[in-house]
Amino acid sequence: MNTAAQTTLQQSRTIDRLIEGVATSDGAGVKLTRVLAGKLQYRLDPFLMLDAFASDDPDDYIAGFPDHPHRGFETVTYMLSGRMRHRDSAGHEGWLENGGVQWMTAGRGVIHSEIPEQKDGVMEGFQLWLNLPAQSKMMQPWYKDFASRDIPEYTTGDNVTVRVIAGSSNGVKGAVTRETTEPLYLDIHMPAGSAFSTSLPATHNAFLYVYRGAIRVGDTPVPSSRMGILSNAPEADGVTLTATEEARLILVAGKPLKEPIVQYGPFVMNTQEEIHQALDDFRSGHFA
Ligand code: CO
Repeated sequence: MNTAAQTTLQQSRTIDRLIEGVATSDGAGVKLTRVLAGKLQYRLDPFLMLDAFASDDPDDYIAGFPDHPHRGFETVTYMLSGRMRHRDSAGHEGWLENGGVQWMTAGRGVIHSEIPEQKDGVMEGFQLWLNLPAQSKMMQPWYKDFASRDIPEYTTGDNVTVRVIAGSSNGVKGAVTRETTEPLYLDIHMPAGSAFSTSLPATHNAFLYVYRGAIRVGDTPVPSSRMGILSNAPEADGVTLTATEEARLILVAGKPLKEPIVQYGPFVMNTQEEIHQALDDFRSGHFA
């Protein structure tokens, strides 16, 4: 565990909008909250989707996500609590549990499954979809599992603990870096009354999602189970958060691609033709 001195900001971003997710189910009937989808894909470019899942009822998660394809983007699964096994068509297999992350670049295509390895207890976490630039959409698939201990962490003088999944924050480099989209992905644990600041490039779109307690950004309260979309004021050089009670949240930012987004379920490309090609390739068994 590192300690890190916090950046002093000139000006913090503010909250543009609060979003309440939509309860839905996916896979073979996994209950989840879809926080980012549809029109927000352009507002929050390069992020395509955020699902939050949290349940202690096995009926909500036990069926998991049997074999399904992806093409054209990256999936980042962050498991706060629980145990999931993933397998893909290239013969890879791995575990994801308590504080671990799976970062998968679907590229030109994978078929994989994500199945719980627990019959009871809590399953809680997030799946974030990060778009790939047009020139990388057909790249070779890649993935890596990070156990909880592989995620760099630091603590501030205010006793805020920050897990740096991607990008870098207050001088601490995260588990994953990406050119082009330059994603930042932090999990932030704040004691009641604490404050936390991190710099954010003015070019980046950014949002946070509070999953415990409540915070404030400037004058705007952000309660639990809400996404706050951060403003893009060009003169703001980061964001300052204040915990109005003990709070946990993720903070996500990335550089927009500014390319057309055409999504058909698990395929996200730039044109309708590329979607047809993805369907053809999938149906004819040309995914890895
Ligand atoms: Co998947």
